[in-house]
Amino acid sequence: MTQAVGRARAHTNIALIKYWGKRDKDLFLPMNSSLSLTLDAFYTDTKVVFDDNLTEDRFSLNGKLQSEKEISKISRFLDLFREYKDESRFARVESLNFVPTAAGLASSASAFAALALATATALELELSPEELSTFARRGSGSSTRSLFGGFVEWDKGTCSADSMARPVDDASWDIGMIILAVNTGQKKIASRVGMEHTVATSSFYQAWVDTAAEDLENIKKAIALRDFETLGKITEHNGMKMHATTLSANPPFTYFSAKSLEAQEAVRTIREELGISAYMTMDAGPNVKVLCRQSDMERLVRALQDYLPAEKIIPSLPGKDAFVLTEEEWQASLATFTGEPR
Ligand code: ADP
Ligand code: DP6
Repeated sequence: MTQAVGRARAHTNIALIKYWGKRDKDLFLPMNSSLSLTLDAFYTDTKVVFDDNLTEDRFSLNGKLQSEKEISKISRFLDLFREYKDESRFARVESLNFVPTAAGLASSASAFAALALATATALELELSPEELSTFARRGSGSSTRSLFGGFVEWDKGTCSADSMARPVDDASWDIGMIILAVNTGQKKIASRVGMEHTVATSSFYQAWVDTAAEDLENIKKAIALRDFETLGKITEHNGMKMHATTLSANPPFTYFSAKSLEAQEAVRTIREELGISAYMTMDAGPNVKVLCRQSDMERLVRALQDYLPAEKIIPSLPGKDAFVLTEEEWQASLATFTGEPR
């Protein structure tokens, strides 16, 4: 019996300049480059075992065996590595999401970054993290960015080999993010489906692509200058522009719920009336993410609790690069997993 084992942890990331739309669906090549902040609070741990006794791939998530559909997604992803390394063994994949799954909190980002690193470790691939991000991309676009900590750019590139993520800044300054988890149930319209429909039908879509490039250049300058106000303003504007493309799709749709609007209103009110600098963004789900200064976080959490007493409010610091786990660390992770991400 031969086995090859790899284990890894990757954190989720929240885009400040969104990836929204593909120019090549099969290769996951995006229409626009994007930039994110990796979060310390949410992550995925994954173990992969290639084993010549297996007659098919297996996949369990949070201790539950997954459907054929989910397994075939994993198999297609593993095939990229098997082809690259001329590997014929099937694999057993076990994964733990310390983040709600499919709720717009980027579980697919941490998931495929962790799976990519665990697989590359098992198969002893000699790839830089940037090169590995081109593999992660084929599982879910946003996962390219989860191989790195801090602020990360995903360059749309010219082809599959150079559409990769790169670290921009480690965010070891006065930066944090607060998640307003208004609903952690599974979303109705997956990001993949929502973006495809938008590219195909929104009359605002070209404006999105044109202005995203400018937003990216400006936000990188703001990061280099550690200019929080400009960073926040660009983040909020870019997120709202992405959501405007869903409202202008045909038929239109939205990821905003009544609770998202309430949360948005709370952020605006706190900013205007209490003078705490905080800027919001949203993804393909109803939850609101608030970019803030780490030094304002405690005060901001208290204010948000006053305005939104019923909501789960989760503060997070910037997260680190994805890393390889030892068997002991994996076992510790299994032992602490409750099935109820924080
Ligand atoms: P999210 O906002 O959580 O990223 P998506 O709909 O984009 O939502 O992605 C969720 C999908 O990602 C899940 O339905 C599943 O197919 C896949 N996924 C989530 N977590 C894992 C994991 N740990 N390992 C493998 N695939 C995962
Ligand atoms: C709104 O990366 O989940 O969160 O590549 O089809 O798997 P696929 O989509 P995914 O989309 C993320 C969309 C977003 C913005 C972002 O994270 O950049």
